[in-house]
Amino acid sequence: MRSFDTMSQAYEALVDKRQEIADLASASALLSWDQEVLMPAGASARRARQLGTLASLQHKMTVEELPRLLGAAEAEVANSEATQTQRLNVQRIREDLTKQQKLPAAFVADMAETSSRAQRVWEGARAQNDFASFQPWLEKIVALKQQEAQYYGYIDHPYDALLDSYEPGVRTAKVQQLFDAMKPRLKALLDAVMAAPQVDDSFLMQPIGQDLQMAFSASVLRQMGYSFEHGRQDLSAHPFCTSFGMEDVRITTRYRPNDIGFLLYSSIHEGGHALYEQGLKSEAYGMPEGEACSLSIHESMSRMWENNIARSEAFWNYFYPSFSAIYPDGLKGQSAERVFAAVNKVAPSLIRIEADELSYHFHIFIRFEIEQALVAGTLAVRDLPAYWNAQYKNYLGVTVPNDAHGVLQDVHWSLGAMGYFATYSLGSFYAAQFLEEARKQLPNLDEKLAVGEFHHLREWLQGQIYDRGRLHTSDELCTIITGRELDPEPFVRYISAKLAKVYGVHLVV
Ligand code: CO
Repeated sequence: MRSFDTMSQAYEALVDKRQEIADLASASALLSWDQEVLMPAGASARRARQLGTLASLQHKMTVEELPRLLGAAEAEVANSEATQTQRLNVQRIREDLTKQQKLPAAFVADMAETSSRAQRVWEGARAQNDFASFQPWLEKIVALKQQEAQYYGYIDHPYDALLDSYEPGVRTAKVQQLFDAMKPRLKALLDAVMAAPQVDDSFLMQPIGQDLQMAFSASVLRQMGYSFEHGRQDLSAHPFCTSFGMEDVRITTRYRPNDIGFLLYSSIHEGGHALYEQGLKSEAYGMPEGEACSLSIHESMSRMWENNIARSEAFWNYFYPSFSAIYPDGLKGQSAERVFAAVNKVAPSLIRIEADELSYHFHIFIRFEIEQALVAGTLAVRDLPAYWNAQYKNYLGVTVPNDAHGVLQDVHWSLGAMGYFATYSLGSFYAAQFLEEARKQLPNLDEKLAVGEFHHLREWLQGQIYDRGRLHTSDELCTIITGRELDPEPFVRYISAKLAKVYGVHLVV
């Protein structure tokens, strides 16, 4: 009889290869971080080449070496001595590979080349407010995405194939049903809020220096449990979180002198992503067990800290004194309650990334409908700006003055990322459902948050979410944690209760 060590040889060889691939991905991520944060402008062409070399090495290992090692590991874990975790790791890697192998190499190269050029055209088009120059490129992208859906295959809707790349196992019809059910309820709440007297947030718009803003946001990040021993925070044009393994997870934020919330909340959002990445199992580096579950679950972690926690009364009760210390003039005559109200101000606007927590979802509903129609061929790219503007009027009551503030605002489509947007709203809904469960299991959570004891929640997330890696789909994970699949009712309860406090509107939605 063979020993267990001999029997896990193939599995260990698979782990080694996956870790080598993860090392290359980490090196690419570090070069990309540098490109956004520190790199001198003159280095961009060389950097692009270096990133291309690393990507092709990674691709080469994945297509030439991984399949044989995976096949051997599959044969091995079929043996009863393998653990359930080993089996699930192998299963996830097989699913990834099967999906990857459906796309011909020529198609992948065409997509990469087209989207890289389309992104440059989009940057110019947005700066010049010139949709016409982007239109032929978006038409090419849409045609490629239609082709991609054919390669992947689907049962009901071609959009299913694209959604699956970002949110495995989730069908278009299910998300559409969820969004359709939410629209009238969130619209009723939005209308009620807009009919109430508006809250004043002007006192948050006085200048505070960059160093003070960065120091205050760092103190919040530390309280959340973000480790500066294993990360750092810098400034960049677009905030992001990136990981080079669990031991080095970095975030960026952005600065506006007259708007503390701008830096603070993007920092907390990325900090929520970073806690997840720092919390992944170090010993599972390179394997699905050491990866985040999905985009929507990732977004649930960032949004939970950004909105449910850092826009709560408990949070501001705790941080008000230290905020006053760096911002004494702005807070003269104010109170924790007024800061709580100000950071929860609702005001429909044109730009998704600056939207409030309630009207945000309409930005997503609109994009979700548009993407389906583009992929299905029922909406032509040339008709897109007019359709976009009509939907903004319809859902948010705002008039789009030009395409730069309308259809050209997001980078996603130029990158070929279609099927992504829904994960943002799903993330908010998951966050509320997880937090309801956390409150059941952690009595007096809000009293603890109000005295700065954030570790109870972080440790709960560690056990429930971070430790489980990518061994389950989002729905499976949600069922393991809360006993049921995604349910939007906790979000509706949470947002209506909060806005009832802020605006005094009482509404059963
Ligand atoms: Co995010």
